[in-house]
Amino acid sequence: MVFPKWTNKIPAIAAVSAFIILNALIFVFWYWFSPKHLNVGYMPEQPVHYSHKLHAGTMGIDCRYCHFNVERGSFAGVPPTEVCMNCHTTVKTSSPEIVKVREAFATGTPIKWVRIHKLPEFAYFNHSAHVNKGVSCVECHGRIDQMDVVREFAPLSMSWCLDCHRAPASHIRDRKLITNLAWHPDGDAVENGLKFMEKYHVNTRTDCNTCHR
Ligand code: HEC
Ligand code: HEC
Ligand code: HEC
Ligand code: HEC
Ligand code: HEC
Repeated sequence: MVFPKWTNKIPAIAAVSAFIILNALIFVFWYWFSPKHLNVGYMPEQPVHYSHKLHAGTMGIDCRYCHFNVERGSFAGVPPTEVCMNCHTTVKTSSPEIVKVREAFATGTPIKWVRIHKLPEFAYFNHSAHVNKGVSCVECHGRIDQMDVVREFAPLSMSWCLDCHRAPASHIRDRKLITNLAWHPDGDAVENGLKFMEKYHVNTRTDCNTCHR
């Protein structure tokens, strides 16, 4: 009789505690690390180390050169490798990163870019509806032209969408400036916005079937 009798219960107590702790851990991870909390700043490793800061910032290539569908359709789309080859058939051809691009092109296998911005299926979004009414990329994606690696800038939550739909004026500019991410209005942003809201007949809706159809 080295151990008192109550110690017989230790295995059962240990099992119950382990069960409770495990569930608490799962809850904490599920709650804090679920997409709602992680999406802003989401910045996955991409298969090719392509830099917006270099191409769109330093070199000043317009967003629409690569995201050519953005004014025409609901998706902006990621460019096919052909677009890269317009330059990289001759530029930096021996760089290991460009070798990956050239190989993808030669074999006809698309580069597997990791998708960053993604709404749930039940929410409807449309790029052309925004950019053609003078909403710049910078309002929703931030200073992409200063990012070496793209990261999510806005939460893309329903309340975030609605905040702008309820009071869009300060987010509207001349359509000619939608890809000029550095631009700021000279005077008051609301005053400037109201001018273009009138010109483009902007009428933002907040009824449910605008975004849930
Ligand atoms: C030379 C081509 C090129 C230009 C110019 C370019 N992009 Fe991109 N863009 C890409 C490629 C390739 C990807 C996918 C890889 C990545 O995410 O970095 C991408 C990804 C993105 C994404 C993230 C897509 C996702 O998965 O959610 C956004 C947002 C974006 N670009 C916005 C812009 C904006 C805004 C501009 C203009 C300031 C711009 N891009 C200019 C090629 C380009
Ligand atoms: C308009 C021409 C142009 C287009 C289009 C273009 N690039 Fe570039 N890219 C350049 C130039 C110029 C450089 C090199 C700058 C320098 O001298 O370091 C470069 C550099 C790079 C580098 C860095 C290479 C290294 O090792 O330094 C990568 C990676 C790259 N580009 C990928 C891409 C991808 C992917 C696309 C297509 C989505 C693309 N580029 C489209 C002109 C272009
Ligand atoms: C009003 C906000 C808003 C504006 C303005 C906007 N985007 Fe987006 N963008 C989004 C949202 C939301 C998504 C995710 C869409 C989805 O999952 O259906 C997205 C996704 C993307 C993607 C990923 C591929 C795709 O088509 O879904 C690219 C690339 C992109 N945007 C580029 C741009 C560029 C370039 C501009 C400016 C010319 C721009 N965006 C303007 C909100 C915006
Ligand atoms: C920065 C301001 C802004 C943000 C953020 C924004 N929107 Fe919009 N949205 C607008 C403007 C401006 C229009 C154009 C209204 C019009 O057609 O006159 C618009 C139009 C739309 C339309 C087209 C409506 C129609 O009549 O067909 C849809 C759909 C839409 N937005 C969905 C979304 C969703 C979903 C989000 C969030 C992921 C979002 N918007 C975020 C400003 C914004
Ligand atoms: C301007 C666009 C827009 C409008 C208008 C809108 N929603 Fe949403 N809604 C969204 C987006 C985007 C999401 C997805 C957000 C996310 O990823 O969590 C969403 C998500 C939801 C969800 C899922 C739960 C959640 O919060 O994520 C419900 C339920 C919902 N909406 C109901 C409604 C109802 C009811 C209305 C009308 C009173 C409405 N929505 C109007 C854009 C909109």
